[in-house]
Amino acid sequence: MTLGVLISGNGSNLQALIDAINSKYLSARIGVVISNRNGAYGLVRAKHDHIPIKVLLRNEFDTEDKYDEALINTLMEHKADLIVLAGFLSILSQRVVNVFKGRIINVHPSLIPAFCGKGYYGKKVHKAVLDYGVKLSGATVHFVDEGTDTGPIIVQEAVNVEESDDLESLSQKILTLEHRLLVEAVKMFVEQRLAIEGRRVKTL
Ligand code: GRF
Repeated sequence: MTLGVLISGNGSNLQALIDAINSKYLSARIGVVISNRNGAYGLVRAKHDHIPIKVLLRNEFDTEDKYDEALINTLMEHKADLIVLAGFLSILSQRVVNVFKGRIINVHPSLIPAFCGKGYYGKKVHKAVLDYGVKLSGATVHFVDEGTDTGPIIVQEAVNVEESDDLESLSQKILTLEHRLLVEAVKMFVEQRLAIEGRRVKTL
């Protein structure tokens, strides 16, 4: 099975997928890594692993439609069966979601439906968690639907928010959890052990 991985930054989630493939834990290949940022370090990680890369900048296309076309074509040209949003900080259009319905997975650094949706990404999530004073946070991997962080949930795991935790320690703790959960979710998809039933995802 071929993955198309979308990134915007450091690419540590991408690296977790690369490592899982190289260690033969995940029987898949990454056909292309697409970034919406030129300087994304994840592009360096992809190049290092000889994975084709493509940078698609929204402002280089004069319409949303032409950008969508380029994104869809790039994924199809590289035969992506599953699209993985790995720290991708842009919302996919309805058109792209429809083309790959049921085959787009996203990792989010909180226990959805808490601390998610518009404006909740990266460190902003963890700051909101610490400001609120919740005792538990975690990570969620879910299918992408037309909303933001609203698709059916595949896997979640919680971590304690300790009194000693600050933005750095909490984000690091959760990022490590994301890496493991993302690989597990992709592995279940690749092994066809996931069934979507309405809002619920059943593990076969
Ligand atoms: C992290 O904040 C992570 O929680 C979210 O995307 C950000 C960057 O991840 N999923 P990565 O290191 O680029 O994979």
